[in-house]
Amino acid sequence: MTGGAGYIGSHTCVALLQAGYEILVVDNLSNSKKESLLRVEAITGKKVPWVQADVRNRGKMRELFSAHPVEGVIHFAGLKAVGESVEKPLRYYDANVAGSMALAEVMQEFGVRLLVFSSSATVYGDPAMLPIREDFPVGATTNPYGRSKLMVEQIYTDLAVSDKAWQIALLRYFNPVGAHGSGLIGEDPSDIPNNLMPYISQVAVGRRERLTVFGNDYPTVDGTGVRDYIHVMDLAEGHVKALAWLQNHTGAHVFNLGTGRGYSVLEVVKAFETASGRPVPYRFSPRRAGDVAAVYADAMKAEQELKWKASRGIEAMCRDAWNWQQQNPMGYPD
Ligand code: NAD
Ligand code: UFG
Repeated sequence: MTGGAGYIGSHTCVALLQAGYEILVVDNLSNSKKESLLRVEAITGKKVPWVQADVRNRGKMRELFSAHPVEGVIHFAGLKAVGESVEKPLRYYDANVAGSMALAEVMQEFGVRLLVFSSSATVYGDPAMLPIREDFPVGATTNPYGRSKLMVEQIYTDLAVSDKAWQIALLRYFNPVGAHGSGLIGEDPSDIPNNLMPYISQVAVGRRERLTVFGNDYPTVDGTGVRDYIHVMDLAEGHVKALAWLQNHTGAHVFNLGTGRGYSVLEVVKAFETASGRPVPYRFSPRRAGDVAAVYADAMKAEQELKWKASRGIEAMCRDAWNWQQQNPMGYPD
């Protein structure tokens, strides 16, 4: 698992270990701490073998593939801050596109052709219709981060055409939030959070004064942006299902991983206040550049094919995010 020490990766470690898989984590710790993996060990009672390495380092990756009997790869490693990607596009294309190419090259050398890739609903841009199906047009992405995800999807799809042995799942995540129910692992942004749920959590815990709501003039239920928030443990379990499904499927296949239901910013604020018992003061500001009004998935393909369906609602997402935030008000220790 590349990027396994990160937010989604650490939760997926738990789901995989609990499903009986043996894993090896590769992470350069550019956006995570090794403490997350120690916490995974505490939750599961199992060892998490891991190596600090960069996926772009082909020599190091070859060493790992030589030393371990890898059957498949879940590729989380990458950079994900949309705003930063506009300022540092080369850094993003290098980490996300060159990194994904280096990984696939080494996998090919070692005859490992089962690959699950973290893509994003951002590839759909501003959808003409809702809910969003996998066959909707892609490409109208508004930033280098989104374009890097789409490029990797295209590269991996070409690879699967060139060699029919590849078994690839391109998972388009909607908005992952929440934390493991133990409160031991969760999302730990190193800077001021870009995303709604960690920002709200930090306001509720007193680290920040108030939330800024970006826009209240969208054509939505209350004028604020609508997204398909998905509990990170549901998302993690989606990876376990995708791995199992790939055993019997070749080619490159796209799946939305979302709940199929949208919530506005103000609905999330309300749900969080209820879950935490704390007020979340906010003020409105103009729209954030690149944001769209509403995004939510048609999640039927994953349900029918992968036999996976998100089961945790907005209450559990807020409760678990809050539990993590309260137990770890400053995130993971160094
Ligand atoms: P994260 O930053 O918490 O995890 C990514 C991990 O990859 C980190 O531990 C980081 O240290 C590691 N990493 C980065 N570059 C690396 C490299 N070159 N070599 C080795 N390790 C490297 O992010 P996350 O939220 O867990 O996201 C995981 C993946 O899912 C990313 O590819 C992200 O783009 C994608 N994704 C995330 C979201 C979201 O909202 N969180 C939505 C859609 C897609
Ligand atoms: N929002 C606020 N205030 C904040 C943060 C967010 O009002 O401080 C609003 C946004 O305007 C949006 C909603 O809350 O309406 C959700 O915003 P997030 O930043 O949490 O999530 P996005 O949908 O903008 O982006 C997320 C991931 C991206 C990914 C995208 C599409 O962060 O990586 O989903 O998959 F590309």
